[in-house]
Amino acid sequence: MRKIIISIVLIYSTLAAADNNVVRTSSDIYKKCMKCHGAKGEIEALGVSKKISSMKENEIEKALKGYKMGVRNVYNFGGLMKGQVLSLSDDEIKKLAEYISKLK
Ligand code: HEC
Repeated sequence: MRKIIISIVLIYSTLAAADNNVVRTSSDIYKKCMKCHGAKGEIEALGVSKKISSMKENEIEKALKGYKMGVRNVYNFGGLMKGQVLSLSDDEIKKLAEYISKLK
């Protein structure tokens, strides 16, 4: 009986760990960005931001990391953007920047 319980706990914790590691693709992540920046990054978000598809890959990456660290605030919406990128890893940000720069 004890063995069964231990096995169940082990299987459960493995599944839970796997769930945390779900790989989010850039196109999945970008879905929430579309609402403000447009499906192709062609919209000036809330009427203030640049059209992000016109930005270079390294500019986008730098901007997103700046928002994540809370040091970028160009049009007074830095706090809003921080909330959008806080949960992204640096690796996800890098891939997302590449993805956005190629939206056409
Ligand atoms: C609720 C609307 C909204 C959502 C959702 C949103 N953004 Fe933004 N974004 C803004 C606004 C407003 C700004 C301007 C922020 C500032 O004041 O610096 C901005 C700025 C940016 C910039 C810099 C543009 C510039 O002009 O310098 C990039 C890059 C960017 N967002 C990418 C993203 C990405 C990637 C996502 C999704 C993870 C996202 N945004 C989600 C509204 C939004």
